[in-house]
Amino acid sequence: MKVLVVGGGGREHTIVRKLKESPRVAEIYCAPGNGGISRDAQCVDIAAMDIEKMVAYAREQKMDLVFVAPDDPLAAGMVDALEQAGIRAFGPRANAAIIEGSKVFSKELMKKYHIPTAGYEVFEDPQKAADYIQAQNQYPVVVKADGLALGKGVVIAQNFEEAQEAIHSIMEEKVFGASGNRVVIEEFLTGPEVSVLAFTDGNCVKPMVSSKDHKRAYDGDQGRNTGGMGTISPNPYYTEELAEQCMRTIFQPTVEAMKAEGRPFKGCLYFGLMLTANGPKVIEYNARFGDPEAQVVLPRLETDLMDVIDAVIDGTLSELELKWSDTAAACVVMASGGYPGSYPKGIEIRGLDANGQVEGATVYHAGTSYQDGVFRTAGGRVLGVTGLAESLDKALQKAYEAVDQISFEGAHYRKDIGRTK
Ligand code: AMP
Ligand code: GLY
Repeated sequence: MKVLVVGGGGREHTIVRKLKESPRVAEIYCAPGNGGISRDAQCVDIAAMDIEKMVAYAREQKMDLVFVAPDDPLAAGMVDALEQAGIRAFGPRANAAIIEGSKVFSKELMKKYHIPTAGYEVFEDPQKAADYIQAQNQYPVVVKADGLALGKGVVIAQNFEEAQEAIHSIMEEKVFGASGNRVVIEEFLTGPEVSVLAFTDGNCVKPMVSSKDHKRAYDGDQGRNTGGMGTISPNPYYTEELAEQCMRTIFQPTVEAMKAEGRPFKGCLYFGLMLTANGPKVIEYNARFGDPEAQVVLPRLETDLMDVIDAVIDGTLSELELKWSDTAAACVVMASGGYPGSYPKGIEIRGLDANGQVEGATVYHAGTSYQDGVFRTAGGRVLGVTGLAESLDKALQKAYEAVDQISFEGAHYRKDIGRTK
């Protein structure tokens, strides 16, 4: 088979490397890809959001499958466009990707189908949102932009002034553009967070092994939110019992709700959960693999990913048994100096071999370029270094030993991955 992966980050590198393990896959392309991906696949210079060019390229090149990995092209209907052109595609259609693309949609879905989540109200008018918060007088309070905001559209306000500031920047300054036309004001929940990614064909849902992200920039969960600074799998807080409860109260009901709404979800559905004193609740849905969750979950998949993709697309997932390794996985993200704020690009990365790898771990490239045998930084999150071992401690040790072999000016990474609540 000839497969095209859309995207160019650490998640896409993970997908590319997993597909490479499949005996069914002969050629892998990635658009636009990155420096590290170029060592494992043929990179194609088409932007992930360029639906027209992507479809034309996939048709010309007679791709057997296009795997759409990032949120924006999914929300913009890339899968719909590929299907209309007769090309097999993995990922939800736009009418299902909205579960991530609109928080108002996902909150209303959960309310309608009694799926546990934080209490909330939706506002289109900034003054009414502020009045509501003032009347409630309960802090912290969570202010969320309705639409996609690069993971930055959530503000946990500690007092009225902070809430007002968030409403102002989201709804009036429009720092996230039209994503801020509406806001969701949400009850603040506490408890350990768990990421559960699940394959679903629209009817059957098969959760993958659990994971835990570390979203804040610095050790001790300090600093600003990022796309994710590291992950572990499995998540130590996610017991067998909780998994069963989530299946019954969240996973299956969500898939059924989407079907009932005439928006069957096919692809990878990501459940961001909080384990509260009142049971597990949904914090967010994503319509795709998490990044860097994919970097610890997919390496543990023993079933041929191509077989899973086929089952998802063909609606035969219930007939396929997914096998996972008993190993633990840990991923440490190395980021550019300044990230999640502004950062320089083009800085030489040292310590990688000719394939962009190091001994003892797998290096998933996120923001890198490659030219004349040299890897350089090209983004905020630069590398995701994953260790696999029989225990979490050993997996972390492997990941950190590998990180120690790699350096670039300004690099920062968290030293406490897997050690925080
Ligand atoms: P999101 O972009 O929806 O994943 O939110 C980013 C982060 O904000 C989450 O990972 C949580 O840590 C936090 N968060 C979001 N919603 C809530 C909530 N209702 N209560 C507490 N924390 C929240
Ligand atoms: N790591 C969180 C996300 O992919 O949304």
